[in-house]
Amino acid sequence: MEWIIRTLEEIKARDLYRELVELETPQGRLISVDGKKLINFSSNDYLGLAKEADPECFEKWGAGSGASRLICGNFKVHRELERRLAEVKKTEESLLFSTGYMANLGVISSLVGRGDLILSDSLNHASIIDGCRLSRADVKIYEHCSADHLEELLKKHRRDYRRCLIVTDSVFSMDGDIAPLDKLFELKEKYDAVLLIDDAHATGVVGWSSLELFGLEPDERTVIIGTLGKALGTFGAFACGTSLMREYLINRCRSFIYTTALPPSIACQTLKNLEKVPDRMERLSKLVKDFGKMLGVESRSAIFPFLVDSEEAAVLMSKALKERGFWVPAVRPPTVKQSRLRITVTANHTEEDLVSLSKVLTEIARSC
Ligand SMILES: Cc1ncc(COP(=O)(O)O)c(C=O)c1O
Repeated sequence: MEWIIRTLEEIKARDLYRELVELETPQGRLISVDGKKLINFSSNDYLGLAKEADPECFEKWGAGSGASRLICGNFKVHRELERRLAEVKKTEESLLFSTGYMANLGVISSLVGRGDLILSDSLNHASIIDGCRLSRADVKIYEHCSADHLEELLKKHRRDYRRCLIVTDSVFSMDGDIAPLDKLFELKEKYDAVLLIDDAHATGVVGWSSLELFGLEPDERTVIIGTLGKALGTFGAFACGTSLMREYLINRCRSFIYTTALPPSIACQTLKNLEKVPDRMERLSKLVKDFGKMLGVESRSAIFPFLVDSEEAAVLMSKALKERGFWVPAVRPPTVKQSRLRITVTANHTEEDLVSLSKVLTEIARSC
């Protein structure tokens, strides 16, 4: 097994070594790492809901689901949550998945296969990339957020294929920017395609759905993937679309069929968390605006990338921030092309947290 040792050594030499860090406290604004209290600016718990745990949910439903949905793991509360999620996303239906990764893998590979075409944004999430690969469809990558390049590819290739899927993150997970969904919406009509939108970092942040930003509502050619493990504060994911789409996925989607159902207690907690979303979304939106002003950037999402020149600089800056009481890990290749600190603002932060981070960040950026 020499090759494993060699590979790890190579990774270390390139400052790309990854290590698991243990949190000694639950997810939240303040976390403890290595016995040190830190203000957490790295989580996707955008609305600060991850710590919520209503004993009623766990007493009523227990911790496990015991089977896949199609065997005997389908509980009333799953259905209640699916209906509520469809309502907020303005689709006819939704279907729960165990994770967003599995939702993207399963939905993409159910919708297209050999002889089909996928057009995928160059900065799409790894789970989308893997879903595209798994589908065995031909994949063409369009330049990040470029509807023009997408149309060029559609013009050139669409007629050679049976079905066509356009797939994009709505809020990009590492940059926080937003896909031109209005243009993508038109292109899917013009070129007879389905549009799959991954709302993982949009749900509960930019609104209930990213389409709201463009005054659009989903139609029968739109599928939206949402996750429960980010702003909604629990775990799992869902795909939104028509009733027909739901029925099709229940019958065809392997990552839905062949896996243990999301625990019903988690579905119950998610329903409770949903009630808190509007107020918290409002607070988050204010903090995002304020933090943007402090950094001199504009963002509609809660993700603020702080790009640096090298992997080494990213690691050094992250360490320096930790010493000053902030938790902002470095994100490096292959997750991103250019290393960065990925800062996320949550509804639980205080204005003072934002002011102190922006000051310390400027100081550290000068010295690293
Ligand atoms: C854009 C995007 N899609 C999908 C996922 C996967 O979701 P999950 O963490 O629920 O597997 C993530 C994050 O992890 C993501 O950032």
